[in-house]
Amino acid sequence: MITVKDRIYTITTSNTSYVMHVPDDKNIENLHYGRRVTTNAGADHNGLIPTSDIIADPDTVRALTEKYNNPYGNEITGSGNITYNNICLEFSNAGTGDYRSLPLTIRREDGLISTRFEYRTCYLYEGLYKGSDSTGMPYAKDSSESTGEAKPWTLELIYENVTDESRAEEAGSKPGAASKPGQGMLELRIIYTAFEDCDVITRRMAIHNDTSVTYVIDDIASMMLDLHGTDFVLKTFDGAWTRERHVHDKVLESGIYETGSTLGISSSMHNPFFMLSDIDATEDHGDCFAFNLIYSGNHRERVEVTEYGKTRILTGIHPHGFEYKLRKGESFHTPEAVMTYSDKGFNGASHNMHRFITDHIVPSHFRNSARPVLINNWEATYFDFNRRKLLNLAKDAAKLGMELFVLDDGWFGERNDDTTSLGDWFVNEKKLGGSLKSLVSEIKALGLRFGIWVEPEMISVKSKLYEKHPDWAVSVLGMESYIGRNQYILDYTLPEVRDYIVTVLSDLLGSADISYVKWDMNRPITDMYSRGDTPPGQFAHSYVLGLYDVMKRLTEAFPKVLFEGCSSGGGRFDLGILSYMPQIWTSDDSDAAERIKIQGGTSYGYPASTMGAHVSASPNHQTLRETTLETRFDVAAMGVLGYELDLTKLTGKEREQIAAQVEFYKAHRLTLQTGEFTRVYNRHGRVIWQITDSEKEHALAMMYRESNEPNKSDDILYAKDLIPEARYRVKVKAAKIPVNTFGNLINMVSPVHIKEGGVAQAILNKVYIMDNESEEYELTGAALMYGGIRLNSRFIGTGLGDGTRVMTDHSARLYTIDKIG
Ligand code: GLA
Repeated sequence: MITVKDRIYTITTSNTSYVMHVPDDKNIENLHYGRRVTTNAGADHNGLIPTSDIIADPDTVRALTEKYNNPYGNEITGSGNITYNNICLEFSNAGTGDYRSLPLTIRREDGLISTRFEYRTCYLYEGLYKGSDSTGMPYAKDSSESTGEAKPWTLELIYENVTDESRAEEAGSKPGAASKPGQGMLELRIIYTAFEDCDVITRRMAIHNDTSVTYVIDDIASMMLDLHGTDFVLKTFDGAWTRERHVHDKVLESGIYETGSTLGISSSMHNPFFMLSDIDATEDHGDCFAFNLIYSGNHRERVEVTEYGKTRILTGIHPHGFEYKLRKGESFHTPEAVMTYSDKGFNGASHNMHRFITDHIVPSHFRNSARPVLINNWEATYFDFNRRKLLNLAKDAAKLGMELFVLDDGWFGERNDDTTSLGDWFVNEKKLGGSLKSLVSEIKALGLRFGIWVEPEMISVKSKLYEKHPDWAVSVLGMESYIGRNQYILDYTLPEVRDYIVTVLSDLLGSADISYVKWDMNRPITDMYSRGDTPPGQFAHSYVLGLYDVMKRLTEAFPKVLFEGCSSGGGRFDLGILSYMPQIWTSDDSDAAERIKIQGGTSYGYPASTMGAHVSASPNHQTLRETTLETRFDVAAMGVLGYELDLTKLTGKEREQIAAQVEFYKAHRLTLQTGEFTRVYNRHGRVIWQITDSEKEHALAMMYRESNEPNKSDDILYAKDLIPEARYRVKVKAAKIPVNTFGNLINMVSPVHIKEGGVAQAILNKVYIMDNESEEYELTGAALMYGGIRLNSRFIGTGLGDGTRVMTDHSARLYTIDKIG
């Protein structure tokens, strides 16, 4: 709900308020963003604008307004001593004495006069921003009809550049003579949309040039937010390939903190999602703000702690290399920024973001549909496969209960390594031993669906496409471009390139029964220059618009196909991609121990249903770390489960384990894929995550231990998000422990001597496998949440009984939590 009354504009969501005041000088002041301070009691819902919101009470407004009894020393002051350098503003002009980071740098092309935007009027309406479709970018959707949530509300604040008006005056025409706001003017809109049920407010800016001169935008943020106070911790999610979105905390001091990407993609270096919390906030307590951007290209996040105890937050497109010309009649829209506040700590803010993404970002038809358990051949075969190998893998996958076979890189052109063929999206029938259609039919006959890998933004020099269209590769004035993984970028700013890709991929998807596509993007963008009409300063943004155009056309043409985003793993894990593709391959690092950090970090901003997570081989192909098959499953089951290893090489016992895992996952899939993910515990190398259904009747908890420290405290299983007075049954998932876990200790129980690493041990390992401990409890939700279950003792070399919890280093357990009364 948004209300406008007596110059007080209030955005109210279930638990938050965002309050603005329009003072006489029209520099709109932000009075409050945070915990809800309003009530809708008695609001008049018949008209568009409810009128009795208590925040409109003048006494409250006076109390919340910044005071300027005395001027601030050498600061620049406006009327009534207002110091623009020390006020929480909704927008700030350059050259006013506000020396903080600014939301907009714009100039006339002829360099004549600087701009000064003044607030004129506002539009308020139920529904999404009316100009959303014209932006060419994805935006948060209205899901009220399918979810029963409140309808979104939108407020547009309209500012006009008064230097244009002064020029008009100089030229003899009357100022403000325009019959409509913005007419004959350079107009700025600040657009807010409230998504009440998930406590999210989105923000963006739009500029429309109706003057006769060309303006040039050098820097434009999607959002500027000024907060009172500076005692914040900034949480960012940074990393690199195979190490995405690790959590980094910075306690803020005076100064400017900046993160972002100039890679042309949102990047594995710095995710656009970030948080700002109270210094003493925890997972469940304290003020926490969280921000994100519905965008997949260059982005910048800036947090400035000021000398007067305020904090300014800006997020939007990165200004590096950005220069956007706005001619008469043209508009520019920023991407939509997302913000939320929770007084329930990091989990509270994460839950808001999770719900927002599920209900308003991912394509609605995938919101509650079960995602298939897949087998991907990449880490099973890499490029070295033929029809026989693929079918053998598929046969085993089908036997083990998997549902979708994904043919990864290497099926097209002459692609037998990563030096060739990107762009030639034509089946290598020799390698596949026949047509794709026939392969798909055989795989479908096994009971599996079929999916395929593509990397449609790329072109290899060694490709038919490059021979024909070398000019389609991004390059500066035809010079040799920088190369990454032996490949160049296709110039998606060119309509003919986009049309070509849409056509070849449509042909591919129409050529066989394909129900899944993995859309990869394996190098960042360099040489940002187009041979077409796009000026260099617009290249990076136009590329992203081109990408969205292609993704939109393809996903709309093939609505039933499940698209999974990927960029060398999780290098483009953002809300832009999620708007078209409900899940993203979280990281090329499939090691369970590393995934704890990667999936754990990702969970701050994104729900578990967006994270592709696979069980792969051990030793792991990225870290050479050994973990048990059960641990690999336990961690992967907290995302969207898949397998990515050579199933044909498994022992009979391993097959049994995997079949049981898949069965378990399917039985709990609804909760795991649509439930709420919560970080329960993370200390001393012990991590607990929990996913709970909306009724709080079923939950799954994953407990992970980094190292099996000997003779130290035993593990306690805590939970969250349950009904305190309800009764729950908690049970450890049945799992298996291979005998080689015990090394030569096995001789303590074996009648014959078994040499460690010898043939007998290998055979024993194949034919015999131990059950894990069996533990089952019944207790109230309150006892489980506030007391915690003291689990059986771990193995510490003093004996092994039925109940001993055998936990090696980097090992995990899954527990089911079911309401029984
Ligand atoms: C990227 C992806 C991998 C795999 C390879 C294939 O690295 O992240 O999952 O698809 O490309 O080349």
